Amino acid sequence: MRTIQKASIKEYNTFGVDNRVNNLVIFDHAEEVSAYFKENTLPDKYLVIGEGSNLLFTKDFEGSLYKMENKGIAIVEEKPQAVWVKVAAGEKWDDLVQWAVDNNYGGLENLSHIPGTLGAAPVQNIGAYGVEFQDVFQSLEAVEMATGDVRKFYLQEMDFDYRYSSFKGPLKNKYIVNWVVIKLNRYPLLQLDYASLKKQAQELSGKDIPAIADIRNAVIHIRESKLPDPKQLGNAGSFFKNPIVDEATFKALQKTYPQIVYYLLDYGKYKLAAAWLIENSGLKGFVMGAASVHDQHALILINNGGAKGSQIVNLSEHIQKTVKQKFGVDLDPEVLFV
Ligand code: EPU
Repeated sequence: MRTIQKASIKEYNTFGVDNRVNNLVIFDHAEEVSAYFKENTLPDKYLVIGEGSNLLFTKDFEGSLYKMENKGIAIVEEKPQAVWVKVAAGEKWDDLVQWAVDNNYGGLENLSHIPGTLGAAPVQNIGAYGVEFQDVFQSLEAVEMATGDVRKFYLQEMDFDYRYSSFKGPLKNKYIVNWVVIKLNRYPLLQLDYASLKKQAQELSGKDIPAIADIRNAVIHIRESKLPDPKQLGNAGSFFKNPIVDEATFKALQKTYPQIVYYLLDYGKYKLAAAWLIENSGLKGFVMGAASVHDQHALILINNGGAKGSQIVNLSEHIQKTVKQKFGVDLDPEVLFV
């Protein structure tokens, strides 16, 4: 375990915003966490971070940041059809995906190249190309920070939804995840509903039915062509969630804008492509000081160098206002403002 006072958070958020935090506590082993929280009372302000790929610091953080850096990927159970894998919260998500693909275990390939740690994956139920983290989740162990008590969570307690789990709702900021157990397939069950992904995987591999490694390559190819690398251009992936509207709202919008991009959800609501709404509000590539809307993908806000968190917030508010005026739709940030 390491504690750093008055740490710079520049290395701990993918927007590359430079602020200070009073106290940064890094855990190297899961066993340290419970002991730490039994001995130390929680400060008024605190936050658990992963790789900081979904956070926007808007000012100095007058409190404690807790970060898990424990490591380990281990098979805990094997059956002919599936394997159960226990993964430390501090592992990088994409290292796990690479491990799974190398071992020919299916289920994660569509979620390739997503930044972040294992501990953060269940909290916001990461998703891409028709797959969500909840599809592989089995259980997790976490420590209640107020007491240091260790607890396990199973599917029914997670309340997973689009970019949501109970750890973003009633359990928000109460637990720090030690490890996660996921279930992977030993016989690939491909999810290729996204036509663009299927086509890319077929083209790149030259195969009609691609292997999971081909799907991983295709996802990486697509993501690299659209999403800027945070090491070069600070960003946090999709800045807003894709808004969900009811049928009446959708039909009215579609009448005025027949080109509107949407997905019909199985409970009769419509998910709109926030990127389309932003682009069609004339904001793709829009620059505001040191922050801008990415010119390749309108859902990505970027730090062009030296942007303060507050400047990115100003840009996001401008986008929300403009989209609301044009389409009457509210955009809700996926990124957490700190
Ligand atoms: N589009 C535009 N303009 C743009 C970009 C996209 O009009 O500048 C339209 C296109 O028509 C496209 C549609 O928007 O078909 C959707 O775009 P895309 O396929 O890139 O996906 P997205 O809805 O923007 C979501 C997730 C991503 C995930 C992709 C792929 C959210 C908020 N974002 O993006 O997740 O990788 O689908 O499944 O749900 C993230 O959460 O950080 C993230 C990157």
